[in-house]
Amino acid sequence: MKIAIGCDHAGLELKENIKALLLNLGIETLDYGTEDNCSVDYPDYGERVSVAVSSGEIERGILICGTGLGMSIVANKFPGVRATLCHNTLTARMGRLHNDSNILVLGARIIDKEIAAEILKIWIETPFEGRRHSRRLEKISIIETKLNERNKE
Ligand code: RB5
Repeated sequence: MKIAIGCDHAGLELKENIKALLLNLGIETLDYGTEDNCSVDYPDYGERVSVAVSSGEIERGILICGTGLGMSIVANKFPGVRATLCHNTLTARMGRLHNDSNILVLGARIIDKEIAAEILKIWIETPFEGRRHSRRLEKISIIETKLNERNKE
């Protein structure tokens, strides 16, 4: 599995921790920035990772900002992206089991690095449950198609 990772200035430190954990797990990580503590705008980095996942170029992504809220708003604009903001192990597990999360969003000002590590491990290891949840995800795809058609009118 390849993972695209991105953050704003508020998420930089946690992004470095997450990259080290992914390296230990033997997972290839592509870093889409930001690279330093200078104040930046989260939509710029959210867009880069979301495009990579939405296009199918990369299977999964991780986005980190202060609360995780801004990155969630951005990522879920992209067709096929199922970004889940996880603040604890339950949301990490459910996001995979029921929502087939393909972008994990973390709030660096909300959770500490130990909880982030637990969330990451669960999000990586938990499979999608399928069955009735597949039908629900299919309905989300239909909504995306309808919105796309409407935008063309
Ligand atoms: C940056 O100060 C902060 O607004 C951003 O990291 C994020 O929390 C936005 O949702």
